[in-house]
Amino acid sequence: MNDIALTILPETPADAPAIERLHERTFGPGRFAKTAYRLREQAAPRPDLSFTARIGTLLVGSIWLSPVRIGETKALLLGPLTVEPAFRERGVGQALIERALQEAKAKGHSLVILVGDEAYYGKSGFKRIPPGRATMPGPVDPARLLVAELAAGAFDGVSGAIRPD
Ligand SMILES: CC(C)(COP(=O)(O)OP(=O)(O)OC[C@H]1O[C@@H](n2cnc3c(N)ncnc32)[C@H](O)[C@@H]1OP(=O)(O)O)[C@@H](O)C(=O)NCCC(=O)NCCS
Repeated sequence: MNDIALTILPETPADAPAIERLHERTFGPGRFAKTAYRLREQAAPRPDLSFTARIGTLLVGSIWLSPVRIGETKALLLGPLTVEPAFRERGVGQALIERALQEAKAKGHSLVILVGDEAYYGKSGFKRIPPGRATMPGPVDPARLLVAELAAGAFDGVSGAIRPD
């Protein structure tokens, strides 16, 4: 991020309409049918772990983290991560992930999961969950179910159904 001044801020209630419009433009109405979306309906994003990216006053990106459990173990579900198309490929997405993971770790969380591209999220420490070890409450491509450990070994011995916390 060197050509534009970017700030990452905690989300506020006033951001909700702009984020909703960004989600609508990015994912369309099909988002409501996605398994991760349906899980989030019951596991509302944590306001203290959700962030916006701004250039000046313009909201150009958003990230949410929601509380879930894998079996009995507490974890956070990342997503959606969305960046305004005109501002992509400038590190906004990476900056949002970095900030959200940093805050999650600072608040004592040790596991973050998501459904997304390993090629992208791998850069932030996410790895594929071995098939069958953790199951989403609906259809998900197993190659896209990823986990990041915020503490060494945090995923050791963790398995089970992913559900709202
Ligand atoms: C995915 C998304 C958040 C990335 O945001 P961004 O601000 O453009 O990302 P960054 O600038 O931090 O990173 C860009 C890099 O990631 C790569 N990248 C982007 N999407 C990728 C993907 N799906 N798979 C692999 N690499 C990807 C880019 O090619 C670029 O690579 P480079 O650094 O080698 O040039 C953004 O493209 C977006 O909002 N997409 C639509 C919504 C979406 O798919 N969200 C993720 C699933 S919830």
